[in-house]
Amino acid sequence: MTDPFAPYDLAGLPLSNRIVMAPMTRCRAGDGGTATALMAEYYAQRADAGLIITEGVQPSAIGQGYPWTPGLHSDAQRESWRQVTDAVHARGGLIAAQLMHAGRVSHPSLHADGAVPVAPSAVRAEGKVFTPTGMKDMIEPRALDEAGIAATFDDFAAAARRAVDAGFDAVELHGANGYLIHQFLDPTANRRTDGWGSGVEGRLRFAVGVAEAVAAEIGPERVSMRLSPGGGRSSGSREDPDALAETYVPLAEELARTGIAALHLVESGGPELTRALREAWPRTLLVNRALGAGDDAARAGLALVETGGADLVSFASLFLANPDLPDRLRAGGPFNAPDRATFYGGGEAGYTDYPVLAR
Ligand SMILES: Cc1cc2nc3c(=O)[nH]c(=O)nc-3n(C[C@H](O)[C@H](O)[C@H](O)COP(=O)(O)O)c2cc1C
Repeated sequence: MTDPFAPYDLAGLPLSNRIVMAPMTRCRAGDGGTATALMAEYYAQRADAGLIITEGVQPSAIGQGYPWTPGLHSDAQRESWRQVTDAVHARGGLIAAQLMHAGRVSHPSLHADGAVPVAPSAVRAEGKVFTPTGMKDMIEPRALDEAGIAATFDDFAAAARRAVDAGFDAVELHGANGYLIHQFLDPTANRRTDGWGSGVEGRLRFAVGVAEAVAAEIGPERVSMRLSPGGGRSSGSREDPDALAETYVPLAEELARTGIAALHLVESGGPELTRALREAWPRTLLVNRALGAGDDAARAGLALVETGGADLVSFASLFLANPDLPDRLRAGGPFNAPDRATFYGGGEAGYTDYPVLAR
């Protein structure tokens, strides 16, 4: 049985345990999408994680999906992140930046010039989008052309370079939850008839292209990709596990060829698909079981590492509400409950004021 609290070597990164803080958008960035001192405090409080993965960070202005999210597309943004990486490192932690391009689920009101968001195809997502002036209907996005795809790869690579220069230990590429990379994978969002769509092979190319571009810029050992086969925000597709395996097993094989260090799987396609990807993927597998913030979720996450179903486990809502989560997991709880009202936006309340256990 593997001990989730034992150290782990992630392609040369020495994790102190196998408990990872999953990425969480908190919409508390400063002017111009910069990181703030409060964000540094929030992440440093959670530095007992084996690895912290930040909230989604836009690699380009057009990639921003929500108000008050931070970026890594300007030098000012890069400089602002140093206080975060320094604070986490000072507490002995490690931190990766999650690069998240929202694609079609962005909105013109998030962009100073009112730019229309981009996507694989001009297909509107379902549902509403959170904007600075309230919930709005999704818009019809602009399909990326060849030059736009190449420029997007460059944006990801440049943002990854800024992340490393800002002191991040690694970069996670957000290929999950219905954002741009996932939109290319998803046949309901990707209706292209050229080489970036039309069949499984075409739909994988964008994800693999982003991984290659970023790996070439900062080294494959510093790169992971997050995937959520069964769950895409605002996507109509709820495919059965067999159909998902037809896309995601070849994707894992293609990503393996890029040399990237890890896959971060949100277990939204069911445990069988997790097992299939465990077999198809030759390196580190990090799994988010997405079971919420209760005792059962804690136990199920640890059990996956104990039984060898994953190398690392990530928790989101449990880490949001419990800055000292590894200590609490070791003790079997108790766990603070997350307050949904303070998830997105605001200040210290529900952000840096969750209590730790008395040691
Ligand atoms: C407030 C909040 C913000 C989130 N933002 C992101 C994000 O920026 N990027 C991402 O990949 N997932 C994001 N997620 C999804 C989580 O990483 C995770 O997959 C999900 O919450 C299920 O895990 P859990 O059951 O441990 O909470 C977010 C979740 C929450 C609760």
